[in-house]
Amino acid sequence: MILNRALILGALTLITLMSPCGSEDIVADHVASYGINVYQSYGPSGQYTHEFDGDEEFYVNLEKQETVWRLPEFGEFASFDPQGALRNIAIGKHNLDIVIKSSNSTAAPIKIPEVTVFPKSPVMLSHPNILICLVDNIFPPVINITWLNNGHSVTEGVFETSFLSKNDHSFFKISYLTFLPSADNIYDCKVEHWGLDKPLLKHWEPEIPTPVSELTETVICALGLTMGLVGIVMGTVFIVQGLRSGGTSRSQGPL
Ligand SMILES: *[C@@H]1O[C@H](CO)[C@@H](O)[C@H](O)[C@H]1NC(C)=O
Ligand SMILES: *[C@@H]1O[C@H](CO)[C@@H](O)[C@H](O)[C@H]1NC(C)=O
Repeated sequence: MILNRALILGALTLITLMSPCGSEDIVADHVASYGINVYQSYGPSGQYTHEFDGDEEFYVNLEKQETVWRLPEFGEFASFDPQGALRNIAIGKHNLDIVIKSSNSTAAPIKIPEVTVFPKSPVMLSHPNILICLVDNIFPPVINITWLNNGHSVTEGVFETSFLSKNDHSFFKISYLTFLPSADNIYDCKVEHWGLDKPLLKHWEPEIPTPVSELTETVICALGLTMGLVGIVMGTVFIVQGLRSGGTSRSQGPL
């Protein structure tokens, strides 16, 4: 299996708004990558994207030759001619052939992906939410990310980003699953990649107080209430006793 790639060919990285103060370290406030080109011998396949501050703006569907905006609204403010992407990908393909020959078909090392699953918003039962499966350190950019609900594959309500670029030339990808948190639904994000011996299942389930802890809470509450009542009764008894003895001492006083 030959894994090779031509990455960031003609990629134009614009660093805008340099930090105005502090001449020693220049910090970019925003980074836009207008044209990340990926082409690999597996498939063979390619990907063309524009990113802004680590978020996807769009990718070009190379088969359908169309620009697919990350959010449809973006397409109302801007446009991108998919032919530009196809030209770049063709150059990437050409360069990849050269690199494969010059490297004597040496495969690039495979990395081990790292998977994290978390909800978008604080989980409340019966409140629609989104589960996020973040897969980091992906190389090569060939992966299957799927969702399981109670062990069964789910395809509805799933959305996946393109491969998003990283400085070390690996990628990350995010898969989203809209779901309705309930006590009897558990989830897994399933990741298949050549860097893994077997599919990796990252488990997630809502944290719901179990009946035992609810019972414990009730017992503690009842105990607290009892103690409080006992305190009131005892206090009253002492006050009454005090008043009586006070009355006695007062009545005895003048004598
Ligand atoms: C290229 O690879 C082939 C097969 O792996 C090997 O026989 C050959 O010696 C290699 N050539 C160079 C120049 O490393
Ligand atoms: C992804 O799934 C397809 C279809 O099941 C399979 O042929 C392919 O080998 C999988 N890819 C990886 C990287 O495991």
